[in-house]
Amino acid sequence: MPVDKRVSDKKPAKFALPAEFPGAVWYGEEEIEAAMRVMKRRSPFRYYGPDCGFEVRQFEREFARYLAAKPGAPWPEAGDILVTAVNSGTGALEVALDALGVGCGDEVIVQGFMWIASISSIIRARAVPVLVDSDDTLNMDPEAIRAAVTPRTKVIMPVPMLGGCARIGRIMAVVREINAERRTQGLPPVRVLEDCAQALGAHARGIPGSIAPLGDEDIHRVGTFGDAGIFSLQINKDMTAGEGGMIVTRDPELHRRIEALHNVGYAKDADPAQNWYGDAPLGWGHGRRMTELQGAVARAQLRKLDAILDNMRRSHARFEVHARELGLTPRARADASAPGDTGYYCIFHLPPGPAAAAAKIARGRAVAAALAAWGLHPWFLHDFEVHVYYNIHPLIEKRPMNNGCPWDCSRNAFHAAYRYDRGTLPRLDEALITSVGINVPSRLTAEQEQEIMAVLDYVCETVINA
Ligand SMILES: Cc1ncc(COP(=O)(O)O)c(C=O)c1O
Repeated sequence: MPVDKRVSDKKPAKFALPAEFPGAVWYGEEEIEAAMRVMKRRSPFRYYGPDCGFEVRQFEREFARYLAAKPGAPWPEAGDILVTAVNSGTGALEVALDALGVGCGDEVIVQGFMWIASISSIIRARAVPVLVDSDDTLNMDPEAIRAAVTPRTKVIMPVPMLGGCARIGRIMAVVREINAERRTQGLPPVRVLEDCAQALGAHARGIPGSIAPLGDEDIHRVGTFGDAGIFSLQINKDMTAGEGGMIVTRDPELHRRIEALHNVGYAKDADPAQNWYGDAPLGWGHGRRMTELQGAVARAQLRKLDAILDNMRRSHARFEVHARELGLTPRARADASAPGDTGYYCIFHLPPGPAAAAAKIARGRAVAAALAAWGLHPWFLHDFEVHVYYNIHPLIEKRPMNNGCPWDCSRNAFHAAYRYDRGTLPRLDEALITSVGINVPSRLTAEQEQEIMAVLDYVCETVINA
């Protein structure tokens, strides 16, 4: 219900918010010591050096343990999750798609609210992206997948956006049903690659496994439901090493391919790995190794990650309650009874207003401008740059890479049936022109939360409900 108090005569004071880079603002002695440790050894390369500390290898093991941990529980000693650290989230996507065998003639199903790297990685694999609509979590709608699958579908890529989980348990169940049918048709299974660059640390409910269920329904960290998952350590992410990424899987053979492909095609199995040519080459690999500096800093950040998430979740929960009191509708959570979202971003849908799309867009822009004028860093989702499929002009125009790939490739001629302009995903399109979001900094004081809520009150009264 809208609040009945008049606030327009109580303009909020101007204020400065803490920076919004969740992991970076927690940098301290631990990260400095980690970087210095590598410097003092003069060994910034992960596999060898004058005195290699194998920071990246230790980070991979620690991250595997972190991923296996249940909410609030300590990291288990061992598990079945296998991690390869790489030098960016984009690189992680490219290596993972390569390891999953994606190439010319393949389709990859992806949602329309993502980040351009989710789609550019498909194009760079010379495959064709196929868009599916979103549900009320603003992530991939599990019920839209079946209609988008064709015999050419190789991979399905859910992208839990801005810290909010998809209904990943349902997505996996739908994929298992699809794969059971494909088996009877003699078709290879479709595989799931979770792009969790924006949802590091989130928990969701479901059963992992794209072909057969791996266990009973339970709570797992996102990124561990599909055949592979990727994460990013870029500065906007929940923890950061400036750049960096991780590829995770429970499948030992897929892990071996990822290990090889991230390192020019040669898996390095020795422990510690010493022999550059110590294993059979897999073919043409990428140069995606993580540096020891990144690995050491990431280890320090990983120990802070749950505290960072706790802070964001607590602030986010208070903003959600307040938004509801103002008559705004926060974006739906995949699992309202046990929300495992990271709290990174608070999206709210504006109340019913103008009917015409142009008027809705004008209203959304006015709301975002008013919030920005008071020091917040909002996004009207329709204008959220290349997170939105119809803002990616090279995609709409089907602009090719060198020699016309992927669009001119004869094995991809079926792409003529696909379009990428606005109107392709009606449910997402409507959500984007009626929703605004604000960042939830990871170090907000109670006073700063109050200041943000006062701005929401004011903008609600003077713009949204005016
Ligand atoms: C959903 C998503 N996927 C992939 C990436 C790429 O990660 P990076 O910036 O580390 O290359 C990002 C980064 O912003 C992202 O948000």
